[in-house]
Amino acid sequence: MNVYDSSRMVDALEPEGFIQTDKIENADLILLNTCHIREKASEKVFSELGRLKKLRQRRAESGKKTMIGIAGCVAQAEGDEIMARAPVVDLVFGPQSYHRLPQMVVRAESERVIDTDFPEEDKFEYLPAASKQTTIARGLTAFLTVQEGCDKFCSFCVVPYTRGNEVSRPMAQIIAEAQNLAAAGVREITLLGQNVNAYHGPDAGGNDAGLGALLFELAKIGGLERLRYTTSHPRDMDDELIAAHRDLKELMPYLHLPVQSGSDRILKSMNRGHTRDDYLGLVERIRTARPDIALSGDFIVGFPGETDADFAATISLIKEVGYASAFSFKYSPRPGTPGALMDDQVEEKIASQRLISLQELIKEQQTDFNRHCVGSKMDVLLERKGRKQGQLAGRSPFLQAVHVDAPAEMIGAIAPLVVKSVGPNSLYGQLLAKTGDESVMAGSIERNDSAPEPARNLQA
Ligand code: 5AD
Ligand code: SF4
Repeated sequence: MNVYDSSRMVDALEPEGFIQTDKIENADLILLNTCHIREKASEKVFSELGRLKKLRQRRAESGKKTMIGIAGCVAQAEGDEIMARAPVVDLVFGPQSYHRLPQMVVRAESERVIDTDFPEEDKFEYLPAASKQTTIARGLTAFLTVQEGCDKFCSFCVVPYTRGNEVSRPMAQIIAEAQNLAAAGVREITLLGQNVNAYHGPDAGGNDAGLGALLFELAKIGGLERLRYTTSHPRDMDDELIAAHRDLKELMPYLHLPVQSGSDRILKSMNRGHTRDDYLGLVERIRTARPDIALSGDFIVGFPGETDADFAATISLIKEVGYASAFSFKYSPRPGTPGALMDDQVEEKIASQRLISLQELIKEQQTDFNRHCVGSKMDVLLERKGRKQGQLAGRSPFLQAVHVDAPAEMIGAIAPLVVKSVGPNSLYGQLLAKTGDESVMAGSIERNDSAPEPARNLQA
């Protein structure tokens, strides 16, 4: 979401005459957009500020002014401390007020500015749309925030405090943004939210609509061929959303569905509001609706009170589900969350060992998943030139990186190919001639388990 927010900050500043630069030495305004989800985030900000202070001095010597701002959740949570500790910072603002950037930047010319309120107004009503040219330059895939904040209050998580309550954007606002993206050639949109499937926005008639209903509407937009969403909570996977996975060819067969732990005791203490069996039952329902779906998850090891038996339950859940990929983290106590005050914090060494063995298992599952794709046909959105001459790179329906020998004119195409081999981080495919064969649709996968080619590293 920070990537999306950063691009909207650029959109907000473009009408004021700012343009984005890749060279930090050229920047008159530097904004650090920060994340507070795990520890060391604020230390990172302060060490980065040390570097920026020197940069500002160098620029000042050649007569150039540099304004420095801190955005995002570290700013939201620790704005006052940043202002006190870092005189080099000119402005500090949270994730809900960046639509006010043009005014803030003017004010910051004469005084230091801090804006970490949760404003009454909806920032999306005020943010200008990106120009068509800018959207085209951003490429064929785009993020689109549909929901922000979270009411779940998992006991380890700062999000409900930094991002605030769950708020959903009205459906019409989202559809208009998606139409603009499609009109500029975007072919794939990933809907974003801290708890995206808690989406409940008013539809055109003012009725409450869920994420499933929103996906059905977005699938009607011409040119928009692929939809994804992230990150979801197991408790908010309702029937309509599962039906969308069954019925919408535009909805890619990949689902990031964090469970965090496989132990009921830990799930309870994490305040997740679901059990291990609830999760496994849900996975079964989703797989019944969309048998080829690739699942991904988030796991935390070393949550307070986690015993060897609790950890073993997480490992057994991973084995039972079988993930195509996953993210895993050592528990990091966050100030202000109930978890940080719990007794029985797990020793660092034990948490590290658990993380290593969990990640080994996930790596194995990911490799298996990728190997099973060898010999299958799939459609790949060709997004850009690959690292090797004559190659293009893109993503499979299952979000795998894919390389293929293809001419540059094919960038933007959703090309049917057969997977020939698999490297550690990507698949290598060979283009299939377009036959109009309906069996080769986004996400359809025909396995050829009989003669998989040996794995080989195709990454440069
Ligand atoms: N410690 C470790 N991991 C965390 N996450 C969120 N908060 C913490 C924390 N305090 C992880 C969760 C979540 C992902 C975005 O980050 O797994 O799903
Ligand atoms: Fe944090 Fe996600 Fe739990 Fe919300 S549902 S509190 S964002 S982990």
